[in-house]
Amino acid sequence: MNAVASPPLADVLRYAAEAWLQFRGGRSLDRALAAALADRPDLRPAVQHATYTAVRHLAASDRLVELLAARPPAAEVSALLAVALAQLQTNSYPDFVVVDQAVNSARSSLHTRAAAGFVNALLRNFLRQRAELVSKLQLDETVHYNLPQWWIARLRCAYPAEWASVASGQQQPPPLVLRVNVSRLSVDRYLGNLHEANIDATRVGEQAVWLSTPRPVASIPGFARGEVSVQDAGAQLAAVWLDAQPGMRVLDACAAPGGKTAHLAELGATDVMALEIDPARVARIEENLRRGGLTARVVTGDALKPESWLPAIHAGAAPFDRILLDAPCTASGIVRRHPDIPWLRRSADVAQLTTVQRELLDALWPLLKVGGRLLYVVCSLFPEEGHEQIDQFLGRHPEACLLPLPVAQLLPTAARAPAWQSGVPTLHDGFFYALLEKTG
Ligand SMILES: C[S@@+](CC[C@H](N)C(=O)[O-])C[C@H]1O[C@@H](n2cnc3c(N)ncnc32)[C@H](O)[C@@H]1O
Repeated sequence: MNAVASPPLADVLRYAAEAWLQFRGGRSLDRALAAALADRPDLRPAVQHATYTAVRHLAASDRLVELLAARPPAAEVSALLAVALAQLQTNSYPDFVVVDQAVNSARSSLHTRAAAGFVNALLRNFLRQRAELVSKLQLDETVHYNLPQWWIARLRCAYPAEWASVASGQQQPPPLVLRVNVSRLSVDRYLGNLHEANIDATRVGEQAVWLSTPRPVASIPGFARGEVSVQDAGAQLAAVWLDAQPGMRVLDACAAPGGKTAHLAELGATDVMALEIDPARVARIEENLRRGGLTARVVTGDALKPESWLPAIHAGAAPFDRILLDAPCTASGIVRRHPDIPWLRRSADVAQLTTVQRELLDALWPLLKVGGRLLYVVCSLFPEEGHEQIDQFLGRHPEACLLPLPVAQLLPTAARAPAWQSGVPTLHDGFFYALLEKTG
């Protein structure tokens, strides 16, 4: 980040520390930032950057404070230390600037004023012993991968050979991947438009284009006109693999914010019902459809209670040819986009989410016509939500047949310039897919 163009670092640290407090209180980073910046939306880019940086160094900062403070500081002071230590670890600003601005920030708030001297001493102490402390901390797996121990244990158990590279890869910044709205223009045409605008881009999937330098959506050519949307290339497989033909009745059962609903419509599905339980998120589906000039029937309702939003179910008819179940999950496959996730979840959440997924599968399955297909997808790496979930489903439903897909469990791949020819994208997040057909 450019120190000259940024707002005063003391302000950034102060608001980032407020967001950090909210996040440690259990809020997602998105909600924490919205709450912290309610009166200073102008600081959003800088504060968001500082807070994400702090979360990407959470385990290290926690350990450093443990090592350098005689006793645990108050929550507000810990928050300021976490955001300042992250800045020192990433060398975004000269060290003396970070220390000076952190002390100014401490002085500017009633909650931290008395601790300004302590903040100064701890940060300087860190700088004096930096090399030694950093190499010592890297021996700690939790710090090295910035993941809780229970999360590492699950990854290691599921992927004995790949877990370390998966965990390291999830610490990298996420790639910016777009989905070209092929009902408007071809991928080649869009790539040509980017080329003319001097924007470096690579095709990484059937409709997926990777911009090697991230930029705000407002400055992505064609975004406002609905020519492209932001969507990971792994997520783009859902609409392709569901293969919804014009005229088929399609249910997108967990639809917000509507990325996959819009993709289904872009690929020619004409009769899509987009169902979402959260009324606040329903508006996002409508907004995404509007921007793309697309249509779908958007319904607010609980997929677990079809009788409440699908009265015809009482007549006994199974109405849908295709069902997409993009189920709520741990999101363990998209940690590079949401580094807060591992720290907000508990190990017990995995079992709880697995139960919700099982209930959703069982509630939606009767709505599928014989010969129809249900695509189950989770952005997860944990087998309980993937293979194991589907094995159990097949055990409960002998009338379900698992159809082959090019790949079921996608592990996240690194952001480099990969050549895509056909089939599975070369750059993507982590997902599990299962395509089920009803045989009787
Ligand atoms: C993984 S997100 C879906 C992302 C979406 N398919 C997309 O591609 O943009 C899961 C969504 O399911 C919704 N959801 C969770 N439980 C639900 C339920 N019982 N019925 C309907 N929607 C539900 C959540 O509110 C959330 O918006």
